[in-house]
Amino acid sequence: MRLVLIGAPGSGKGTQSALLCSHFGIPHLSTGEILREAKRLGTPLGQRVAPIMDSGGLVDDTLMLDVVRERLERPDCQQGFLLDGFPRTLPQAHALERLLHELNWTLQAVVELRVSTAELERRLINRYHEMENPRPEDQPAAIAKRLELFENLTKPILSYYREAGLLRTVDGMQTPDEVFQRICYLLDRAQS
Ligand code: AP5
Ligand code: MG
Repeated sequence: MRLVLIGAPGSGKGTQSALLCSHFGIPHLSTGEILREAKRLGTPLGQRVAPIMDSGGLVDDTLMLDVVRERLERPDCQQGFLLDGFPRTLPQAHALERLLHELNWTLQAVVELRVSTAELERRLINRYHEMENPRPEDQPAAIAKRLELFENLTKPILSYYREAGLLRTVDGMQTPDEVFQRICYLLDRAQS
């Protein structure tokens, strides 16, 4: 199974990725997690992206593509993968298509999690207050910037995947388990 999960910040990509990756036995490729780990370890990549991430900005496309290429070329991706948080811009979507073509792979589905802005804000603010080490990008100013960038730069890739016949849209306002069941149903249908 080769999947992409798209959704606004707080839409539940990480939550659903954990369920889907364990269900399908595939690795979880979260660009956000990779960057957060690099930041935590203080690697050159982490130092470079820290101020961008903390303010809610997007890391540049070329750098993100290098990160994803390196990850996709590892042996565990041979049996499939779930991309969470990449692609996030049209240039990233085009670059991913070229990269997959080079590797002789195609995507099987792109799942969109749709959640209202009020609910996204509620979840991210809650997470900021509940975590022992809150993410700097969950502060109100950074949340606003992330939501705006999603609207302007990430949403356009939905039409790109819709036209390619790959997009499956799921109501992300239900409980995590209901959302997961719905994704599985749509993926089953897409395969048969
Ligand atoms: P990334 O880590 O990808 O963050 P994000 O997309 O902003 O979203 P989150 O991870 O915060 O939310 P999520 O959708 O995973 O939801 P979650 O399951 O956690 O990226 C971080 C940063 O890295 C970016 O801002 C950017 O700087 C950089 N970056 C990463 N990829 C990049 C790229 N490709 N290009 C450029 N820059 C990039 O859930 C959120 C909360 O809601 C949790 O508390 C959860 O418990 C709760 N929740 C989940 N599902 C439900 C539900 N169904 N009902 C109620 N609550 C729920
Ligand atoms: Mg996430």
